[in-house]
Amino acid sequence: MTSRSFEAVKVTENVYWVGAIDWDIRDFHGYRTGQGTTYNAYLILGEKLTLVDTVKAPFCDEMFERIASIVDPCKIDYIVSNHSEMDHTGALPRTVHVVKPEKIFASKMGARALASHFHMDREIQVVADGETLDLGGLKLSFAETRMCHWPDSMVSYLHEDKLLFSQDAFGMHLASYERFADELDARTLKDEAAKYYANILLHLPHIIEKTIAKLEGLGLELSVVAPDHGPIYRRGEDITDIIGSYARWNKQSPSDKAVVVYDTMWHSTASMARAIGEGLSAGGMKVRMMPAGAVHRSDIVTELLDAGALLVGSPTLNNGLFPTIAETMCYITGLKPRNLIGAAFGSFGWSGEASRKLHEMLAGLGVKMVAPPLRVNYVPDEDALEQCRQLGEYVARANQAQLAGKEIPTLCEEPEKKPAKPGKATKCKIDINSGVRKLAVEPGLSVFKALGGQDIMLPTICGGEGLCGCCKITVLQGASEITPAERQQLTGAQLQANIRLACQVVVREDMKIIVPEESLGAQQFQGLVEEITELNHDIKRLRIKLIEPGQLEFRPGQYIKFNVPTSIEPGGISRAYSFAASPSQAKAGYVELMIRRVPGGVCTGWVFQHLQAGDAVSFAGPFGSFALSDSDSEMIWIGGGSGLSPFWSMLQYMRENNIARKCTLFFGAVQKRDLLLMAELQDLQTQLDWFTFVPALSAPAEGDNWPGEVGLVTDVVARHIKDGSKAEAYLCGSPGMIDAAINTLLGLNFEDSRIFRDDHTHTNPPRKNV
Ligand code: FEO
Repeated sequence: MTSRSFEAVKVTENVYWVGAIDWDIRDFHGYRTGQGTTYNAYLILGEKLTLVDTVKAPFCDEMFERIASIVDPCKIDYIVSNHSEMDHTGALPRTVHVVKPEKIFASKMGARALASHFHMDREIQVVADGETLDLGGLKLSFAETRMCHWPDSMVSYLHEDKLLFSQDAFGMHLASYERFADELDARTLKDEAAKYYANILLHLPHIIEKTIAKLEGLGLELSVVAPDHGPIYRRGEDITDIIGSYARWNKQSPSDKAVVVYDTMWHSTASMARAIGEGLSAGGMKVRMMPAGAVHRSDIVTELLDAGALLVGSPTLNNGLFPTIAETMCYITGLKPRNLIGAAFGSFGWSGEASRKLHEMLAGLGVKMVAPPLRVNYVPDEDALEQCRQLGEYVARANQAQLAGKEIPTLCEEPEKKPAKPGKATKCKIDINSGVRKLAVEPGLSVFKALGGQDIMLPTICGGEGLCGCCKITVLQGASEITPAERQQLTGAQLQANIRLACQVVVREDMKIIVPEESLGAQQFQGLVEEITELNHDIKRLRIKLIEPGQLEFRPGQYIKFNVPTSIEPGGISRAYSFAASPSQAKAGYVELMIRRVPGGVCTGWVFQHLQAGDAVSFAGPFGSFALSDSDSEMIWIGGGSGLSPFWSMLQYMRENNIARKCTLFFGAVQKRDLLLMAELQDLQTQLDWFTFVPALSAPAEGDNWPGEVGLVTDVVARHIKDGSKAEAYLCGSPGMIDAAINTLLGLNFEDSRIFRDDHTHTNPPRKNV
């Protein structure tokens, strides 16, 4: 017998581990893998010899040798790809070439992803959610687990061995010769599993919850859980433990731990951090000091998994963040930690933008900011250090309220205003539709963004990401190079005809372009406030009589830019609000808006404190491509707060035009007092057999006596919808809610091309502080 370096490891009677150990890897797309990793592939010894997943491309020979230690690899009949990411499929093309398997199986999204990755001349057979494959004496069932970790993800279950191939779920990056969790040190397992969850799955809590619920719902008995990375679980207590840990991490319940992330230029910000740490500790918190220059971002995120507070400090460097802090914030932002309170701080010399930017970034991430940014000029003196210490003590007090479930105190009364920074670069001229509009814009922007910044809203579904192909324009002069996204979305003939995607074309010189006429349709309107109605404690409805022009046409879902007068904000600003009534009202000369009060917001401050019936107002519009599709598909609407506006408009429009298209409105609020138009919506539900209204409170107040749904609106959606593969989803609310909703919807089998977002929440600045 020939000697070989690598052997298969028996997992059960019918399954062998034939993966690879990567001892060297220390960076896994930004995650510091301090102990290497494994790429787990498995061989099922059915009459149909089946390989479940493969390994990263450079480890193909290792996998082949392990397979060859028990059977000739060329005898493999089937390959199952549970997950398309290249750490599990990199070796697939070569494996297919060598083995020539009879069939390759993947989920629907997996088949697409494999085709887009490898462009193989091989059919991928799609297995449906719940389908069972007969391997000849053995049965392998599949369950889609979309977005856990990619949209293609699925798990498979070998009935005879009660073995779950869980792909990325329940894995960890840990290289070892021990193949089973019970052979490894329990602390190492716990730490690496937590680090893996924090760095890979933290931003997908709803998906994880759904996945666990789905697996539990299938009633599968689990004797072995075999993930695609790290050790295999084969003891009941270990399986219960890892599933329980996921359920706990999913909640990300706050603790009394504060994480202080900082970097420093001349030790001033570090001194501030230390004084803040002293204050936090004196206030009773456990403190993790994380100097970003010395600690890796993946360890910082791991600490956040069970933290209560996040404080971030950066000196101002070249009007911005210190590079290590910028990098860390980018990483943290993508992983979306939850349930944190926080504050920003930093030293500065003459401009001091860093701590303000940090404050905005953290607030944008959903961190409850309990104090305005603490800034110190150059080097902190004793007074300044005392302020830092006091900040730490204040955060610790806020943490006590947070842990007690009480209202969290904050010193942030006045949100920071963003300074307007006029660009210094020479502007480029864009001629639109042969002189109909002429713009001067900053070079470097995409045409989509450049036009959007000047109220010319091109159609989009993906928000300018190059995924939907909707923002087509013709570029007659000044085109930048064609991008891969355009080669995917446009035909050769279209490219020949200079048709391009506006989101991919970059403004580098003067340009001439042609855009759809309707994108230029917005105009200025003057009106008079006819009535202001309080819809709840922080949302008002404005009814505006149009004066000039006297009527307006729009599609339900579109929005206007409402002008704040120069007497209120010198220089004038405008804010986006969706139409909140039927188009028939606008044709009759009236526009309605729902405006939610934002503490410190310039526009809402004016509306709530000064604006009265009879006042003159002005706005531009209509804008936006958020609108009812032409299909008959069932619709799921998800909104919160004044995000009810477009749905209210759509609902009135559908009722007036007898469009009986099945739709369910999921409306999220915190407490009963945050709900609005409840009686009207419930009446409509009674009158219209195609309309269902599902309000949900995330934290009902004592005394609310709320009989309805409780929980985040995305969780409520996940509870109500079993399969969205034939439905469309429409979203309007905060960017955070929209992101969470998209993750949930993908996990519920909604096609990404059928998830529509209210476009002023992502092509314009978010609605906070308006
Ligand atoms: Fe281990 Fe998402 O790949």
